[in-house]
Amino acid sequence: MNNFLKLNNLSKKYKKNKAFKVLNNINFKFESGKIYSIVGPSGSGKSTLLNLLSLIDLPSSGYIEYNKKKIDTNSSIENDIIRSKNIGIIYQDKNLLSDFTAVENVMMPNLLISNNKFKSIELAKKLINKLALTSRLDHFPSELSGGENQRVAIARALINEPNIILADEPTGSLDFENAKQIFKILFNLKNKNRIIIFATHNRYFANMADCKIKMIGGKMSVINERIN
Ligand SMILES: Nc1ncnc2c1ncn2[C@@H]1O[C@H](COP(=O)(O)OP(=O)(O)OP(=O)(O)O)[C@@H](O)[C@H]1O
Ligand SMILES: [Mg+2]
Repeated sequence: MNNFLKLNNLSKKYKKNKAFKVLNNINFKFESGKIYSIVGPSGSGKSTLLNLLSLIDLPSSGYIEYNKKKIDTNSSIENDIIRSKNIGIIYQDKNLLSDFTAVENVMMPNLLISNNKFKSIELAKKLINKLALTSRLDHFPSELSGGENQRVAIARALINEPNIILADEPTGSLDFENAKQIFKILFNLKNKNRIIIFATHNRYFANMADCKIKMIGGKMSVINERIN
């Protein structure tokens, strides 16, 4: 299936500064099978855009379409269901709940939709295993290194096999070697049904994407696109 995520006249302004459109009438189509990087100076709206795409925040006007279906931003329950089934999200840090172990953190999004604890634990273990963290299953986030925390966060984002993966500076708190490892995992997640979008300040990683987008003046502009 050729999935897409389309932004239609999407705008965002915040209550505290209504005169300023952080995102200004954006039209764009993200296509499956591609990895997109989003760059731009601090405050240019990268996180704002990712929060709208992840249905965590609402646009001020315009709308998002996923596979020709308009996402009804007024229905938070519907949005929660769409998110848990279709979207995996990775932040810079604090991805995990501190009172839960690695395996519990990873299994949780699956438990919400499967209601089958045994199946969710098995799936979580399998994923953690794949990310070479088998010996850390029972570790709490505070007992994991920064890189390990991010690998667990990736496992958690993947457990429901999302077709959309959104990452907001996923390696912003890591050293270069760990960051490389995380991006290697992220890039290996590419498949023909999946859209991967990440924001970064790192030019090296941004340039690895199929399509690099710069946020500037409330708009998105494609600054390089690789034709596969
Ligand atoms: N909840 C909020 N209320 C009011 N203004 C906000 C809010 N969140 C973000 N902003 C403003 O929106 C603009 C864009 O912020 P955003 O976090 O999207 O930038 P960013 O590109 O992700 O920056 P960074 O690279 O520093 O993460 C900034 O000017 C910020 O001050
Ligand atoms: Mg940001």
